[in-house]
Amino acid sequence: MGSFTAEKISEKVYWVGAIDWGVRDFHGYLTERGTTYNAFLVIDEKVTLIDTVKSPFMNEMLARIASVIPPDKIDYIVSNHSEMDHTGCLPQMIALASPEKVFASVMGKKALGSHFHFGPDAVTAVKNGESISLGESSLTFLETRMLHWPDSMVSYLDTDKVLFSQDGFGMHLASTERFDDQLPAWILKQEAEKYFANILLPFSPMVTGLMKKLEELSLNIELLCPDHGPVWRSDIAGILKSWKEWALQPCITSAVIIYSTMWKSTGHLAAAICDGLVSQGISVKVMPLDSSHRSDVATAVLDAGALLVGSPTINGQMFPDVAAVLTYLKGLKPKNLIGGAFGSYGWSGEAVKQVEQYLADMSIPLVVPGLNINYIPCDDDLVEARELGVKVGIELNRRCSS
Ligand code: FEO
Repeated sequence: MGSFTAEKISEKVYWVGAIDWGVRDFHGYLTERGTTYNAFLVIDEKVTLIDTVKSPFMNEMLARIASVIPPDKIDYIVSNHSEMDHTGCLPQMIALASPEKVFASVMGKKALGSHFHFGPDAVTAVKNGESISLGESSLTFLETRMLHWPDSMVSYLDTDKVLFSQDGFGMHLASTERFDDQLPAWILKQEAEKYFANILLPFSPMVTGLMKKLEELSLNIELLCPDHGPVWRSDIAGILKSWKEWALQPCITSAVIIYSTMWKSTGHLAAAICDGLVSQGISVKVMPLDSSHRSDVATAVLDAGALLVGSPTINGQMFPDVAAVLTYLKGLKPKNLIGGAFGSYGWSGEAVKQVEQYLADMSIPLVVPGLNINYIPCDDDLVEARELGVKVGIELNRRCSS
């Protein structure tokens, strides 16, 4: 099984997860700092495993469990979320431990059945608000549908005041440190925001609902345990506050310019637009798509009030990497943005209209009509591009101050 040890994180709870130092692509999300698959072992009369890990990491989890208790002593397994980074080795764990019960939400039972073709009695469905006794402690389940799957739920351990929040409040960050206060705050902010932008953004209204629900419940949370990244123990209030703000996507006087360019013409337009925005006091992030990953664009857009998109026309189409990023962003449904389109063309020039259509589909209003330049922009064209930036900047300032 290898040499891996569990880490005690509270009176009854051990971290028994796995560290994936090498993963860099998680469904198209650039995980530059790797990730962890967190699983937690609760030691009580009923020994309970909360979530499991991605299947290649099963032996690491087993070794950590075995450093506390023989794995076949597990009585209950709770699956808070059916996605396979947390359930990939669930069938093997069930075979190995023969637990009395495997618990999941009603939708979780369905999803696990569809993943692993379990029989009807393999998983016990728990209802929203239901509690089970583990002995001294009890575990209460709260459904968090569409955060970020229909099956998602969180579990609260009353004695140790631990909320096991599956993907919620997580981040992709591999580390030997288990707690938030052992890691630099700026890295936590960066990775938590990237995680929110790329995973939770489409479900922002549900996040707002969850945050209200947590406030109403007034749960006393001393440890917030996501399935990825560090356990929150020092800045629980901070991560809850950040989620609340990110879900609301307030007006921000920042802009993101993304573009591709063939012979630098669209790049020159991007630079002039940037200059115009800056003249209005707007903070600008320019992201050429040959060196900017789509998941970093998504994070930047969460921190912006305007999105400007530039593309040359190639064979009657926008550049493929522009189309790829727009497709990705459209699925993430960012809110409260204004936009603009620009580009250069040789003889037909369809790309700018195509970008405008994408922005319209994303409910991003255009401040001015798209700027479409033939071949290489002249000085007047660059003045016009700068003016586009000025107009977007003025409109963004107006929106954010109203
Ligand atoms: Fe970490 Fe949605 O799985």
